[in-house]
Amino acid sequence: MIEVNFDKITQLSKQERYSIVLNQAEALMKDENNLIANLSNIVSLLKYSFDYYLWVGFYLYDEEKQNLVLGPFQGRIACTRIEIGKGVCGTAFKNRETLVINDVNKFPGHIFCDSSSKSEIVVPVFRNDKIVGVLDVDSAVYSSFDAVDRKYLNELSLIISRIF
Ligand code: SME
Repeated sequence: MIEVNFDKITQLSKQERYSIVLNQAEALMKDENNLIANLSNIVSLLKYSFDYYLWVGFYLYDEEKQNLVLGPFQGRIACTRIEIGKGVCGTAFKNRETLVINDVNKFPGHIFCDSSSKSEIVVPVFRNDKIVGVLDVDSAVYSSFDAVDRKYLNELSLIISRIF
């Protein structure tokens, strides 16, 4: 079992923190192939590594119902289902692209789960070429997510794709 010193990690730069998080994510998943266990540890690792994360979690594609269903997360209770093409998550999934939203109030059709959310990043997760879900992060501050978050969360998404 790996241990992360969360007191120390918050003193580091964003890049340094993401580098550590990516290495820890690899280490956490190395000897475990259970999807729920791995995704649960990933969201905990993220939430406690970044003080500006309000909510972080996965929405996974439900083949049967053809929509997104809430997966492992850290934060307040959230919508359990999101239709494809709806909200930031459903749009990122439909377009198979990462979305960085500086002000969620300006995103048409944004779905509010926590009224204190101000900005958001949603990163698609693929298994080979097939999209299997999205990683969603909310912040209580406007414009929290930049090119650094985009770069490293996309790298994390590639690491995660191996466990699907
Ligand atoms: N804001 C998201 C919904 C999920 S919650 O933020 C956890 C959206 O618009 O898709």
